[in-house]
Amino acid sequence: MNAKSNRKSFLDFARLRKTTYEFSERKVKSSDVRKILEAGRWAPSPINSQPWRFIVVRKKSKISRLVENAFYGYFHTAPSVIIALVLKKESWKGTHRGVKNGKLGLYEAYLSMAMPALSMVYESLDLGIDSCLLTPNPESVSRILRLEGDSVPLMVGFGYEKKGVFQRVRGRKSIDELTSYD
Ligand SMILES: Cc1cc2nc3c(=O)[nH]c(=O)nc-3n(C[C@H](O)[C@H](O)[C@H](O)COP(=O)(O)O)c2cc1C
Repeated sequence: MNAKSNRKSFLDFARLRKTTYEFSERKVKSSDVRKILEAGRWAPSPINSQPWRFIVVRKKSKISRLVENAFYGYFHTAPSVIIALVLKKESWKGTHRGVKNGKLGLYEAYLSMAMPALSMVYESLDLGIDSCLLTPNPESVSRILRLEGDSVPLMVGFGYEKKGVFQRVRGRKSIDELTSYD
């Protein structure tokens, strides 16, 4: 087999990505975190507003507090690093749809935050790093991260899965169920 045929396609990645629930103690290298951030920063956003900033949390005690304040099951263990995706308050205003006076509507603002999250997750997969998406309790996570007015719609955890651990049965609706034409 040549090198090219060993290389995974994007479709392979789309199928391989999964939520990891239990992480080992192995640390994610800072150089890899940097690549994950690089993937995130190139994500698209309405009028290229880039309404985000990223907070990298490495401190074990802070990671535990963030995890405790997310929708996380009892079987979860903490990842080695969490990146909190912060939605900047100055980027959006009101509840309108679309963009007005250079500010995103609420929906666009929140939709935008999914973009760097997914780019980061796929970059980590390419690096052999496992991940989980975490929905924060907004008030407590803003307090823990000492945010004034900015919010955190989503956090992404990165690490290495423990061997032989819990895995939810994974599946998806079929293309036929999901899709109609014309
Ligand atoms: C926006 C978003 C928020 C999520 N929040 C959580 C969460 O708080 N806790 C959790 O365990 N999983 C969370 N997940 C992961 C989903 O439960 C998971 O992606 C889904 O069950 C499909 O499983 P898979 O990722 O293994 O394919 C979230 C996923 C998304 C897209």
